[in-house]
Amino acid sequence: MNYVSKLIITSFLLLTIPLMLTSCTKKELVFKTVENQPQAFSYLPRTEDGFIDWVAAINNGTIKPRDSIDPKAAPQSRPMDMDVIFYTKGAMPDVVYPHYQHTQWLDCRNCHPKIFKAQKGSNGVTMAQIFAGEFCGRCHGTVAFPLQYCNRCHVKPK
Ligand code: HEC
Ligand code: HEC
Ligand code: HEC
Repeated sequence: MNYVSKLIITSFLLLTIPLMLTSCTKKELVFKTVENQPQAFSYLPRTEDGFIDWVAAINNGTIKPRDSIDPKAAPQSRPMDMDVIFYTKGAMPDVVYPHYQHTQWLDCRNCHPKIFKAQKGSNGVTMAQIFAGEFCGRCHGTVAFPLQYCNRCHVKPK
């Protein structure tokens, strides 16, 4: 690794670690540790590190979330199978954002247009803003798996 990339990585970490720590302490993390996951959820599948794997829970039929608590409510839009790739500038693998796994839980309007404009590359997403609780960080670290699992988002090698 050359001097310039070392410098870039060091300054990136110096910038984001304090942000990451403040965003973690500010928020009420739902399941901060494996230990504080409720006993009642013990039948749910787990990721390698012991957290509940909600996506696997839907896929293997363990749970079937309802669209609404109102039985007469209009059904949520169908899951949409479309990946959007975020090409990172540095050495981190690129990010694959999967619509399918999200729209099994969420409605389009949970993200569009308030969190993300529905146009690829139009949102200027950066990791620093995610750590500060914007974009993916609105949910990841609060209601979805936390940001320390870099390799669940950064999945596509260069
Ligand atoms: C969890 C958040 C989330 C949900 C829910 C969501 N999207 Fe998206 N969508 C994104 C992200 C992130 C992008 C990429 C934005 C970017 O590149 O800056 C995107 C991009 C798009 C694009 C642009 C694709 C392109 O090639 O330019 C369309 C169209 C879109 N979404 C439609 C939908 C529809 C329809 C639904 C509901 C069925 C939906 N989205 C639900 C997060 C979401
Ligand atoms: C509106 C809330 C919301 C936003 C915004 C959001 N996610 Fe998620 N995401 C979820 C939920 C809920 C799950 C399922 C629960 C879990 O796995 O923890 C999930 C799961 C995932 C998964 C796991 C898929 C699998 O197959 O296991 C990936 C990868 C992911 N999100 C990436 C992203 C990326 C990248 C962004 C930003 C571009 C993003 N998410 C923005 C709520 C969100
Ligand atoms: C919830 C998904 C998600 C997680 C988890 C995640 N990232 Fe990212 N990361 C992204 C997205 C989306 C981008 C924006 C890519 C782009 O267009 O540059 C990004 C960009 C980056 C970049 C490129 C520079 C920048 O600021 O945009 C670096 C470096 C990075 N992430 C490092 C990390 C590290 C280190 C971790 C773990 C501590 C991590 N990421 C965890 C989604 C994620």
